[in-house]
Amino acid sequence: MKGTILVNPYDAYPVQKRKVARMVQEFDSLGVQIEVVENDGFVAYIKDGDVKCALQTDFVLYFDKDRIAARLLERAGIRVFNNAAATEICDDKMLTHTVLANFGIPMPDTVAGPLCYNPKAATNLDEYVCKAVKTLGLPVVVKECHGSFGEQVCLCEEAKTLKDKLEEIKTKPYLLQRYERESGGRDMRVIVIGGKAVCAMLRTNDADFRSNAAPQSRCEKADLPQEIAALCEKAARIVGLDYCGVDVLLTDPPKICELNSNAMFEKMETTTNFNVARAYAQHIVECVNKRR
Ligand SMILES: Nc1ncnc2c1ncn2[C@@H]1O[C@H](COP(=O)(O)OP(=O)(O)OP(=O)(O)O)[C@@H](O)[C@H]1O
Ligand SMILES: [Mg+2]
Repeated sequence: MKGTILVNPYDAYPVQKRKVARMVQEFDSLGVQIEVVENDGFVAYIKDGDVKCALQTDFVLYFDKDRIAARLLERAGIRVFNNAAATEICDDKMLTHTVLANFGIPMPDTVAGPLCYNPKAATNLDEYVCKAVKTLGLPVVVKECHGSFGEQVCLCEEAKTLKDKLEEIKTKPYLLQRYERESGGRDMRVIVIGGKAVCAMLRTNDADFRSNAAPQSRCEKADLPQEIAALCEKAARIVGLDYCGVDVLLTDPPKICELNSNAMFEKMETTTNFNVARAYAQHIVECVNKRR
């Protein structure tokens, strides 16, 4: 079997490079030959009205977030892990909550920010802020729809700071969310592979409500309660994910915070001693074999 790991050409994070290396190592031990390819737009593109793809591969392990390339690869008949639709849903936090709604998945009350496509237009955010405070209470969690490592997530304690924040980010997609105080500074990261929750760690931050924010965030191995395992497995199934890291807020009942289609796993492996890369590689090999 031959596989391709597709990576983003601008992603220079050492942790991402180590993630690729771990996957190559585990595929190698399963006898799968891997080529690591940078997604430069020519991997799959449109020529004479059809998708042209030069990859000779049995699958693509997609370590990019470029939704177009994933779709083009699928249009070329290639099995992509995670599939393009799931990657797209997870790349946008508001889209994730929208897709998960109406399935009995507990999650914080969430409101989408109004779409602003003309930054020069005079905006009156007072009414929106007023409605948000009435609906969600204070403080309010503000999240840009695209982001990671807690960097695009903040807590606004009062209406004035909320309004200032929204003025600052109004041209970006964002959401407002009820602050789940019970879970402040704590959450559980769970890895789901092939529909099964396989390992979990508890993340704690005494200095910040964002349990994942560096440098104070601490991780420890966690027993996975059945209720949380079932919740994560159900959410992954609804979105159609082969692999994901689920962030769970530790409320009663537990609530889904977000799904990460491209979750890093180095910290999970060192904290729990669970071989995430091996489990993901095995899942991919099984899926590809079934498809043959
Ligand atoms: N509604 C909420 N109530 C309480 N805490 C929250 C809430 N939303 C997020 N948090 C905290 O903030 C952290 C970061 O939020 P979230 O996971 O949505 O974004 P992120 O940092 O961009 O994600 P990642 O780095 O995992 O891709 C969570 O791990 C959690 O500890
Ligand atoms: Mg998160």
